[in-house]
Amino acid sequence: MTSHLIPLLSILVFSVAVTATSTDSYEHIDYEKAKNLTADYCYARSYAEVANVVEKCRYIVLVNFEVPAGKTLQLNLQKNSVLLIEGTITFAVAHWDGPLMSINGKNLQVLGGTNHLIHGQGEKYWDGRGGGGVQKPQRVMSINVQGGSFKNINIKNCPMFCVSIIGSDLTFSGFNIDNNDGFKGGLAVNTDAMGFVYSNNILIENSKIINQDDCINVMASSNAVIRNVHCWGSHGLSFSSGLSKTDENNDIHNVTFQDCSIGGSLNGIHILTMPSGGKGKISQVTYRNIQIIDVTQRAIEFRQDYLDNGHPKNNIVIDGLTLDNIYGTVTGNAVAVYINCGSGSCKNWNWSGVKITGAKTKDYCNFVPHGYSC
Ligand SMILES: *[C@@H]1O[C@H](CO)[C@@H](O)[C@H](O)[C@H]1NC(C)=O
Ligand SMILES: *[C@@H]1O[C@H](CO)[C@@H](O)[C@H](O)[C@H]1NC(C)=O
Ligand SMILES: *[C@@H]1O[C@H](CO)[C@@H](O)[C@H](O)[C@H]1NC(C)=O
Repeated sequence: MTSHLIPLLSILVFSVAVTATSTDSYEHIDYEKAKNLTADYCYARSYAEVANVVEKCRYIVLVNFEVPAGKTLQLNLQKNSVLLIEGTITFAVAHWDGPLMSINGKNLQVLGGTNHLIHGQGEKYWDGRGGGGVQKPQRVMSINVQGGSFKNINIKNCPMFCVSIIGSDLTFSGFNIDNNDGFKGGLAVNTDAMGFVYSNNILIENSKIINQDDCINVMASSNAVIRNVHCWGSHGLSFSSGLSKTDENNDIHNVTFQDCSIGGSLNGIHILTMPSGGKGKISQVTYRNIQIIDVTQRAIEFRQDYLDNGHPKNNIVIDGLTLDNIYGTVTGNAVAVYINCGSGSCKNWNWSGVKITGAKTKDYCNFVPHGYSC
């Protein structure tokens, strides 16, 4: 189901470069204001112009071009750069590892123009087998940025994984991913939408995501809010831990999902921890005001036996898990609540207003949260 997490993490880890947090301030601009300044911008109207423009300019517009097969649109931007995206950016098909696009730097503002599109052409790769099928470029966009914002970005048809994030002090607002074409014939698989790791102070808001694997996946990170994000398809609003053998690379602290919805998905909200990984701690996690519609497997799933079915372990402690006002429906034989904790590794779970209807199969809980009866 999501057994590609390990490769995903190794890809992410491989690309770690900077981890210092940035506190520098910079002027936030909106797209209209930015447009007014475009006389001062450097334009890249073809892939060939990108490298030079990125080296010379801090105000950059990418307009309507195709990135050649097997190349990364590499944007190692200068500090305080503003990057506008207009028209359609496509990526010629090649069976290679990717990423298709890589954005790196400090204090960056990335803004999408009306009707722009970053088109991964996933439809030309999907074969129903995800990571197991033909080689697909992994990640449409790889982000390693300290400080900044991404606004009104539209991504379509990710071959495999959409966006991976490492960074700090980042806002993603109106960050939309449309993999709707991938439902046809069940061909798109492992199209995880947005995942972040080794990150601090992340806000993802006001976004719409349609895909076929995790919608948002939080890995080793702290201080994040995901709000007003609406997912369709997907595997869930997720946390994954225990992916690393190094203990401190498994910690997740202070993350809130609120005012989100998820529908037509395998799971609604879930936390997976991996018994074979190092030790770690997931703490201060909150899901609040989450609507879950027509889930087909488990609406609320917390399991500590990821990739070792039925053998949960306590290497990752989940201490402080608040669920408040979680409501919706499941279909078919789906289960409303499934909790499979390791021995003693789940504590301080306070739930209120958790109401999922339509389940024909009973909840499974080997640990019972305060405020919920299984
Ligand atoms: C953009 O420029 C126009 C014409 O100068 C002006 O009317 C408008 O207020 C400007 N918009 C912003 C957001 O600065
Ligand atoms: C949790 O993270 C959010 C988002 O960064 C931050 O605003 C808040 O202050 C943090 N809360 C605590 C108790 O650290
Ligand atoms: C859960 O509720 C108990 C009792 O009200 C409280 O002492 C504890 O701090 C709460 N835990 C969290 C994580 O909110």
